[in-house]
Amino acid sequence: MVTVFRNSLSCQANRVAAVVMLLLLSSACQAKLSSTFYEKSCPNALSTIRKPIRMAIARERRMAASLIRLHFHDCFVQGCDASILLDNSPSVPSEKLAPPNNHSVRGFEVIDQAKSAVEKVCPGVVSCADILAVAARDASVYVGGPSWTVKLGRRDSTTASPCLACSDLPRPNDSLKRLISRFRAKGLSARDMVALSGAHTIGQAQCFTFQERIYSNGSNIDAGFASKRRLRCPATPGDGKSNLAALDLVTPNSFDNNYFKNLLQKKGLLQSDQVLFSGGSTDDIVSEYSRNPCTFKSDFATAMIKMGNIKPPTGSAGIIRKICSQVNN
Ligand code: HEM
Ligand SMILES: *[C@@H]1O[C@H](CO)[C@@H](O)[C@H](O)[C@H]1NC(C)=O
Ligand SMILES: *[C@@H]1O[C@H](CO)[C@@H](O)[C@H](O)[C@H]1NC(C)=O
Ligand SMILES: *[C@@H]1O[C@H](CO)[C@@H](O)[C@H](O)[C@H]1NC(C)=O
Repeated sequence: MVTVFRNSLSCQANRVAAVVMLLLLSSACQAKLSSTFYEKSCPNALSTIRKPIRMAIARERRMAASLIRLHFHDCFVQGCDASILLDNSPSVPSEKLAPPNNHSVRGFEVIDQAKSAVEKVCPGVVSCADILAVAARDASVYVGGPSWTVKLGRRDSTTASPCLACSDLPRPNDSLKRLISRFRAKGLSARDMVALSGAHTIGQAQCFTFQERIYSNGSNIDAGFASKRRLRCPATPGDGKSNLAALDLVTPNSFDNNYFKNLLQKKGLLQSDQVLFSGGSTDDIVSEYSRNPCTFKSDFATAMIKMGNIKPPTGSAGIIRKICSQVNN
Protein backbone atom coordinates (compact mmCIF):
# COMPACT_ATOMS: atom_id res chain seq x y z
CA MET A 1 0.00 0.00 0.00
CA VAL A 2 2.70 2.38 1.09
CA THR A 3 4.82 1.38 -1.92
CA VAL A 4 1.95 1.99 -4.30
CA PHE A 5 1.31 5.38 -2.74
CA ARG A 6 4.97 6.28 -3.00
CA ASN A 7 5.04 5.16 -6.60
CA SER A 8 2.04 7.20 -7.58
CA LEU A 9 3.48 10.21 -5.82
CA SER A 10 6.81 9.95 -7.61
CA CYS A 11 4.96 9.26 -10.87
CA GLN A 12 2.99 12.40 -10.41
CA ALA A 13 6.15 14.30 -9.63
CA ASN A 14 7.64 12.89 -12.81
CA ARG A 15 4.59 13.85 -14.79
CA VAL A 16 4.72 17.39 -13.49
CA ALA A 17 8.39 17.51 -14.33
CA ALA A 18 7.63 16.15 -17.79
CA VAL A 19 4.98 18.79 -18.44
CA VAL A 20 7.35 21.53 -17.31
CA MET A 21 10.04 20.08 -19.55
CA LEU A 22 7.66 19.96 -22.50
CA LEU A 23 6.64 23.56 -21.98
CA LEU A 24 10.27 24.60 -21.81
CA LEU A 25 11.12 22.52 -24.86
CA SER A 26 8.22 23.72 -26.98
CA SER A 27 9.02 27.35 -26.29
CA ALA A 28 12.68 26.65 -27.04
CA CYS A 29 11.77 24.85 -30.29
CA GLN A 30 9.78 27.78 -31.52
CA ALA A 31 12.69 30.09 -30.98
CA LYS A 32 15.47 27.94 -32.34
CA LEU A 33 16.49 24.82 -34.18
CA SER A 34 17.45 21.55 -32.50
CA SER A 35 19.53 18.57 -33.57
CA THR A 36 16.93 16.15 -32.17
CA PHE A 37 13.90 17.74 -33.82
CA TYR A 38 12.82 14.58 -35.72
CA GLU A 39 13.94 12.08 -33.05
CA LYS A 40 10.34 11.15 -32.24
CA SER A 41 8.46 12.15 -35.39
CA CYS A 42 10.87 10.64 -37.93
CA PRO A 43 13.73 8.77 -36.28
CA ASN A 44 15.20 7.60 -39.60
CA ALA A 45 15.00 10.96 -41.37
CA LEU A 46 18.74 11.58 -41.52
CA SER A 47 19.76 8.16 -42.84
CA THR A 48 16.88 8.26 -45.34
CA ILE A 49 18.09 11.60 -46.71
CA ARG A 50 21.74 10.54 -46.76
CA LYS A 51 21.25 7.61 -49.15
CA PRO A 52 20.02 9.43 -52.29
CA ILE A 53 22.46 12.29 -51.61
CA ARG A 54 25.42 9.92 -51.53
CA MET A 55 24.19 8.06 -54.61
CA ALA A 56 23.94 11.29 -56.58
CA ILE A 57 27.46 12.38 -55.63
CA ALA A 58 28.81 8.93 -56.44
CA ARG A 59 27.31 9.36 -59.92
CA GLU A 60 28.64 12.88 -60.35
CA ARG A 61 31.17 14.29 -57.93
CA ARG A 62 30.32 17.91 -58.75
CA MET A 63 26.88 17.38 -57.23
CA ALA A 64 28.47 17.81 -53.78
CA ALA A 65 29.36 21.38 -54.74
CA SER A 66 25.96 22.05 -56.25
CA LEU A 67 24.14 20.89 -53.11
CA ILE A 68 26.27 23.02 -50.77
CA ARG A 69 25.61 26.04 -52.97
CA LEU A 70 21.87 25.34 -53.05
CA HIS A 71 21.67 25.61 -49.25
CA PHE A 72 23.65 28.89 -49.38
CA HIS A 73 21.39 30.38 -52.05
CA ASP A 74 18.36 29.29 -50.06
CA CYS A 75 19.50 30.79 -46.74
CA PHE A 76 20.55 34.17 -48.17
CA VAL A 77 17.11 34.78 -49.69
CA GLN A 78 14.25 35.13 -47.14
CA GLY A 79 16.19 32.85 -44.75
CA CYS A 80 16.57 29.04 -44.81
CA ASP A 81 13.03 28.27 -45.93
CA ALA A 82 13.47 26.28 -49.17
CA SER A 83 12.12 29.26 -51.13
CA ILE A 84 14.71 28.51 -53.82
CA LEU A 85 13.03 25.17 -54.59
CA LEU A 86 9.66 26.59 -55.65
CA ASP A 87 8.85 26.41 -59.35
CA ASN A 88 7.45 29.36 -61.21
CA SER A 89 3.65 29.60 -61.01
CA PRO A 90 1.02 32.34 -61.30
CA SER A 91 1.08 32.83 -57.52
CA VAL A 92 4.80 32.25 -56.90
CA PRO A 93 7.49 33.94 -59.01
CA SER A 94 10.41 31.53 -58.86
CA GLU A 95 13.86 32.37 -57.51
CA LYS A 96 15.23 29.72 -59.86
CA LEU A 97 14.96 32.18 -62.74
CA ALA A 98 16.60 35.12 -60.97
CA PRO A 99 19.95 36.03 -62.58
CA PRO A 100 22.22 34.65 -59.81
CA ASN A 101 20.40 31.29 -60.10
CA ASN A 102 19.18 30.98 -63.70
CA HIS A 103 21.16 28.27 -65.57
CA SER A 104 23.48 28.15 -62.61
CA VAL A 105 22.12 26.54 -59.45
CA ARG A 106 21.55 22.84 -59.77
CA GLY A 107 20.73 19.72 -57.76
CA PHE A 108 16.96 20.17 -57.54
CA GLU A 109 16.25 16.62 -58.70
CA VAL A 110 18.51 15.23 -55.97
CA ILE A 111 16.63 17.15 -53.28
CA ASP A 112 13.37 15.85 -54.82
CA GLN A 113 14.67 12.28 -54.55
CA ALA A 114 15.60 12.77 -50.89
CA LYS A 115 12.19 14.32 -50.24
CA SER A 116 10.26 11.45 -51.82
CA ALA A 117 12.34 8.91 -49.88
CA VAL A 118 11.61 10.67 -46.60
CA GLU A 119 7.92 11.15 -47.47
CA LYS A 120 7.65 7.35 -47.78
CA VAL A 121 8.81 6.79 -44.21
CA CYS A 122 7.20 9.82 -42.53
CA PRO A 123 4.76 11.70 -44.74
CA GLY A 124 4.34 15.42 -44.13
CA VAL A 125 6.93 15.65 -41.37
CA VAL A 126 10.33 16.69 -42.71
CA SER A 127 10.71 20.11 -44.32
CA CYS A 128 12.47 20.74 -47.61
CA ALA A 129 14.52 23.46 -45.90
CA ASP A 130 15.90 20.88 -43.44
CA ILE A 131 16.63 18.47 -46.31
CA LEU A 132 18.74 21.21 -47.95
CA ALA A 133 20.70 21.70 -44.72
CA VAL A 134 21.28 17.97 -44.24
CA ALA A 135 22.22 17.48 -47.90
CA ALA A 136 24.86 20.22 -47.65
CA ARG A 137 26.44 18.54 -44.61
CA ASP A 138 26.31 15.07 -46.20
CA ALA A 139 27.86 16.48 -49.38
CA SER A 140 30.74 18.04 -47.45
CA VAL A 141 31.45 14.77 -45.65
CA TYR A 142 31.36 12.77 -48.89
CA VAL A 143 34.08 14.83 -50.58
CA GLY A 144 36.40 15.01 -47.58
CA GLY A 145 35.08 18.17 -45.94
CA PRO A 146 34.13 18.58 -42.31
CA SER A 147 31.05 17.15 -40.64
CA TRP A 148 28.80 18.96 -38.21
CA THR A 149 25.58 18.31 -36.34
CA VAL A 150 22.77 19.82 -38.38
CA LYS A 151 20.21 21.79 -36.40
CA LEU A 152 16.67 20.98 -37.55
CA GLY A 153 13.13 22.25 -37.32
CA ARG A 154 13.04 24.70 -40.21
CA ARG A 155 9.72 24.97 -42.03
CA ASP A 156 9.08 25.75 -45.68
CA SER A 157 7.94 29.05 -47.13
CA THR A 158 4.80 29.55 -49.19
CA THR A 159 6.51 32.39 -51.06
CA ALA A 160 9.69 33.08 -52.98
CA SER A 161 11.48 36.29 -53.91
CA PRO A 162 13.41 36.68 -57.15
CA CYS A 163 13.91 40.32 -56.11
CA LEU A 164 15.72 39.37 -52.93
CA ALA A 165 17.70 36.74 -54.86
CA CYS A 166 19.05 39.57 -57.01
CA SER A 167 19.69 42.03 -54.24
CA ASP A 168 20.95 39.80 -51.42
CA LEU A 169 23.18 37.21 -53.11
CA PRO A 170 26.82 38.20 -53.57
CA ARG A 171 28.16 38.78 -57.08
CA PRO A 172 31.40 37.51 -58.57
CA ASN A 173 32.62 41.06 -59.16
CA ASP A 174 31.76 42.39 -55.69
CA SER A 175 34.45 44.32 -53.81
CA LEU A 176 35.69 43.07 -50.44
CA LYS A 177 33.81 45.85 -48.70
CA ARG A 178 30.59 44.87 -50.44
CA LEU A 179 31.06 41.18 -49.65
CA ILE A 180 31.68 41.92 -45.97
CA SER A 181 28.56 44.04 -45.77
CA ARG A 182 26.42 41.46 -47.56
CA PHE A 183 27.46 38.74 -45.11
CA ARG A 184 27.16 41.04 -42.11
CA ALA A 185 23.58 41.77 -43.20
CA LYS A 186 22.92 38.05 -42.67
CA GLY A 187 24.59 37.96 -39.26
CA LEU A 188 27.85 36.48 -40.58
CA SER A 189 31.29 37.91 -39.80
CA ALA A 190 34.13 38.54 -42.25
CA ARG A 191 35.80 35.43 -40.86
CA ASP A 192 32.63 33.39 -41.52
CA MET A 193 32.59 34.83 -45.03
CA VAL A 194 36.17 33.79 -45.77
CA ALA A 195 35.59 30.30 -44.34
CA LEU A 196 32.36 29.88 -46.33
CA SER A 197 34.03 31.08 -49.53
CA GLY A 198 36.29 28.07 -49.00
CA ALA A 199 33.37 26.07 -50.43
CA HIS A 200 34.94 27.13 -53.73
CA THR A 201 37.48 24.40 -53.06
CA ILE A 202 35.04 22.28 -55.07
CA GLY A 203 32.75 22.90 -58.03
CA GLN A 204 32.75 24.82 -61.28
CA ALA A 205 32.05 28.29 -62.62
CA GLN A 206 30.92 29.40 -66.06
CA CYS A 207 33.12 31.58 -68.25
CA PHE A 208 30.90 34.65 -68.03
CA THR A 209 31.41 34.83 -64.25
CA PHE A 210 35.20 35.27 -64.48
CA GLN A 211 35.71 36.55 -68.04
CA GLU A 212 36.27 40.16 -67.02
CA ARG A 213 38.94 39.11 -64.52
CA ILE A 214 41.00 36.93 -66.85
CA TYR A 215 41.06 39.61 -69.55
CA SER A 216 41.76 42.48 -67.14
CA ASN A 217 45.59 42.26 -67.42
CA GLY A 218 45.48 43.36 -63.77
CA SER A 219 48.26 42.99 -61.20
CA ASN A 220 45.81 41.03 -59.17
CA ILE A 221 45.95 37.85 -61.26
CA ASP A 222 48.76 35.44 -62.10
CA ALA A 223 49.52 35.94 -65.81
CA GLY A 224 50.06 32.25 -66.58
CA PHE A 225 46.84 31.36 -64.82
CA ALA A 226 44.95 34.02 -66.77
CA SER A 227 46.27 32.90 -70.14
CA LYS A 228 45.43 29.26 -69.41
CA ARG A 229 41.91 30.23 -68.40
CA ARG A 230 41.47 32.27 -71.59
CA LEU A 231 41.87 29.14 -73.73
CA ARG A 232 38.42 27.94 -72.79
CA CYS A 233 36.83 31.31 -72.11
CA PRO A 234 36.80 33.53 -75.20
CA ALA A 235 36.99 37.31 -74.88
CA THR A 236 33.88 37.96 -76.88
CA PRO A 237 30.65 36.80 -75.32
CA GLY A 238 29.27 34.00 -77.44
CA ASP A 239 29.21 30.23 -77.50
CA GLY A 240 31.87 29.90 -74.83
CA LYS A 241 30.14 31.91 -72.15
CA SER A 242 28.95 28.87 -70.23
CA ASN A 243 32.20 26.90 -70.57
CA LEU A 244 33.16 25.55 -67.18
CA ALA A 245 36.34 26.02 -65.16
CA ALA A 246 37.18 24.58 -61.76
CA LEU A 247 36.96 27.06 -58.91
CA ASP A 248 39.99 25.30 -57.38
CA LEU A 249 42.26 24.37 -60.24
CA VAL A 250 44.52 22.18 -58.10
CA THR A 251 42.07 19.76 -56.50
CA PRO A 252 38.63 20.54 -57.98
CA ASN A 253 36.95 17.49 -56.53
CA SER A 254 38.16 17.38 -52.97
CA PHE A 255 37.36 19.57 -50.06
CA ASP A 256 40.74 20.86 -48.88
CA ASN A 257 42.50 24.19 -48.33
CA ASN A 258 44.06 24.52 -51.80
CA TYR A 259 41.53 27.25 -52.56
CA PHE A 260 43.37 29.49 -50.06
CA LYS A 261 46.81 28.48 -51.31
CA ASN A 262 45.67 29.50 -54.81
CA LEU A 263 44.65 32.92 -53.53
CA LEU A 264 48.18 33.50 -52.16
CA GLN A 265 49.42 32.91 -55.73
CA LYS A 266 46.79 35.21 -57.29
CA LYS A 267 45.08 32.21 -58.83
CA GLY A 268 41.60 32.83 -57.54
CA LEU A 269 39.10 32.25 -60.36
CA LEU A 270 36.46 34.82 -59.43
CA GLN A 271 37.22 38.39 -58.53
CA SER A 272 35.20 37.79 -55.34
CA ASP A 273 37.67 35.02 -54.50
CA GLN A 274 40.81 37.07 -55.09
CA VAL A 275 39.60 40.17 -53.20
CA LEU A 276 39.79 38.06 -50.03
CA PHE A 277 43.59 38.22 -50.48
CA SER A 278 44.47 41.53 -52.12
CA GLY A 279 46.02 43.59 -49.36
CA GLY A 280 42.77 44.00 -47.44
CA SER A 281 41.50 43.16 -43.99
CA THR A 282 40.92 39.46 -44.71
CA ASP A 283 44.46 38.67 -45.91
CA ASP A 284 45.46 37.26 -42.52
CA ILE A 285 42.51 34.89 -42.44
CA VAL A 286 43.31 33.57 -45.93
CA SER A 287 46.97 33.04 -44.92
CA GLU A 288 45.90 31.25 -41.77
CA TYR A 289 43.59 28.86 -43.65
CA SER A 290 46.27 28.24 -46.29
CA ARG A 291 48.65 27.10 -43.55
CA ASN A 292 46.17 25.29 -41.38
CA PRO A 293 43.56 23.07 -43.06
CA CYS A 294 42.14 22.00 -39.69
CA THR A 295 41.33 25.56 -38.67
CA PHE A 296 39.67 26.09 -42.05
CA LYS A 297 37.54 22.97 -41.76
CA SER A 298 36.47 23.67 -38.23
CA ASP A 299 35.62 27.32 -39.03
CA PHE A 300 33.74 26.18 -42.14
CA ALA A 301 31.59 23.82 -40.07
CA THR A 302 30.86 26.54 -37.50
CA ALA A 303 29.97 29.04 -40.24
CA MET A 304 27.70 26.54 -42.04
CA ILE A 305 25.74 26.06 -38.81
CA LYS A 306 25.45 29.86 -38.47
CA MET A 307 24.38 30.16 -42.10
CA GLY A 308 21.78 27.43 -41.57
CA ASN A 309 20.34 29.53 -38.77
CA ILE A 310 19.46 32.52 -40.95
CA LYS A 311 15.81 33.38 -40.30
CA PRO A 312 14.31 29.89 -40.58
CA PRO A 313 10.51 29.77 -40.25
CA THR A 314 9.79 27.63 -37.16
CA GLY A 315 6.90 26.65 -34.92
CA SER A 316 3.65 27.55 -36.66
CA ALA A 317 5.25 29.72 -39.35
CA GLY A 318 5.42 28.31 -42.86
CA ILE A 319 4.42 24.80 -43.88
CA ILE A 320 5.86 21.35 -44.49
CA ARG A 321 5.67 21.04 -48.26
CA LYS A 322 4.65 17.67 -49.70
CA ILE A 323 6.57 18.37 -52.89
CA CYS A 324 9.55 20.70 -52.60
CA SER A 325 8.83 22.57 -55.83
CA GLN A 326 5.23 23.42 -54.93
CA VAL A 327 3.22 24.86 -52.08
CA ASN A 328 0.57 22.43 -50.81
CA ASN A 329 -2.95 22.77 -52.25
C1 HEM B 1 31.50 35.23 -51.19
C2 HEM B 1 30.61 35.43 -52.14
C3 HEM B 1 30.34 34.42 -53.22
C4 HEM B 1 30.25 34.68 -54.54
C5 HEM B 1 30.38 36.03 -55.21
C6 HEM B 1 30.02 33.43 -55.20
C7 HEM B 1 29.84 33.27 -56.56
C8 HEM B 1 29.81 32.08 -57.22
C9 HEM B 1 29.75 31.94 -58.65
C10 HEM B 1 29.68 33.08 -59.66
C11 HEM B 1 29.78 30.61 -58.94
C12 HEM B 1 29.74 29.97 -60.31
C13 HEM B 1 28.30 29.87 -60.77
C14 HEM B 1 28.16 29.56 -62.24
O1 HEM B 1 29.07 29.85 -62.99
O2 HEM B 1 27.11 29.01 -62.63
C15 HEM B 1 29.85 29.92 -57.68
C16 HEM B 1 29.88 28.55 -57.54
C17 HEM B 1 29.87 27.91 -56.32
N1 HEM B 1 29.69 28.50 -55.09
FE1 HEM B 1 29.89 30.45 -54.68
N2 HEM B 1 29.96 32.43 -54.27
C18 HEM B 1 30.15 32.99 -53.04
C19 HEM B 1 30.09 32.33 -51.83
C20 HEM B 1 29.78 30.99 -51.69
C21 HEM B 1 29.42 30.36 -50.46
C22 HEM B 1 29.24 31.08 -49.13
C23 HEM B 1 29.22 29.04 -50.73
C24 HEM B 1 28.79 27.93 -49.83
C25 HEM B 1 29.00 27.89 -48.54
C26 HEM B 1 29.48 28.87 -52.14
C27 HEM B 1 29.47 27.67 -52.80
C28 HEM B 1 29.69 27.52 -54.15
C29 HEM B 1 29.92 26.24 -54.78
C30 HEM B 1 30.08 24.92 -54.06
C31 HEM B 1 30.01 26.48 -56.16
C32 HEM B 1 30.17 25.44 -57.28
C33 HEM B 1 28.78 24.97 -57.67
C34 HEM B 1 28.73 23.90 -58.75
O3 HEM B 1 29.75 23.44 -59.24
O4 HEM B 1 27.59 23.52 -59.09
N3 HEM B 1 29.79 30.07 -52.69
N4 HEM B 1 29.85 30.84 -56.65
C1 LIG C 1 16.31 32.60 -67.49
O1 LIG C 1 16.70 31.81 -68.58
C2 LIG C 1 15.68 31.65 -69.58
C3 LIG C 1 16.09 30.59 -70.57
O2 LIG C 1 17.34 30.86 -71.13
C4 LIG C 1 15.42 33.00 -70.21
O3 LIG C 1 14.44 32.88 -71.22
C5 LIG C 1 14.93 33.94 -69.13
O4 LIG C 1 14.78 35.23 -69.65
C6 LIG C 1 15.88 33.99 -67.93
N1 LIG C 1 15.20 34.65 -66.84
C7 LIG C 1 15.59 35.82 -66.38
C8 LIG C 1 14.72 36.42 -65.33
O5 LIG C 1 16.60 36.40 -66.73
C1 LIG D 1 29.46 43.74 -61.86
O1 LIG D 1 28.84 43.21 -63.03
C2 LIG D 1 27.53 43.67 -63.24
C3 LIG D 1 26.90 42.86 -64.35
O2 LIG D 1 27.82 42.51 -65.33
C4 LIG D 1 27.57 45.16 -63.52
O3 LIG D 1 26.28 45.65 -63.76
C5 LIG D 1 28.19 45.85 -62.30
O4 LIG D 1 28.33 47.23 -62.55
C6 LIG D 1 29.54 45.25 -61.96
N1 LIG D 1 29.98 45.79 -60.68
C7 LIG D 1 31.21 46.17 -60.45
C8 LIG D 1 31.53 46.63 -59.06
O5 LIG D 1 32.09 46.12 -61.30
C1 LIG E 1 44.90 42.97 -72.16
O1 LIG E 1 45.99 42.73 -73.02
C2 LIG E 1 45.63 42.23 -74.29
C3 LIG E 1 46.88 41.88 -75.08
O2 LIG E 1 48.02 42.31 -74.46
C4 LIG E 1 44.78 43.28 -75.02
O3 LIG E 1 44.38 42.79 -76.28
C5 LIG E 1 43.56 43.58 -74.17
O4 LIG E 1 42.80 44.62 -74.75
C6 LIG E 1 43.94 44.00 -72.74
N1 LIG E 1 42.75 44.10 -71.94
C7 LIG E 1 42.48 45.16 -71.19
C8 LIG E 1 41.19 45.13 -70.44
O5 LIG E 1 43.23 46.11 -71.08
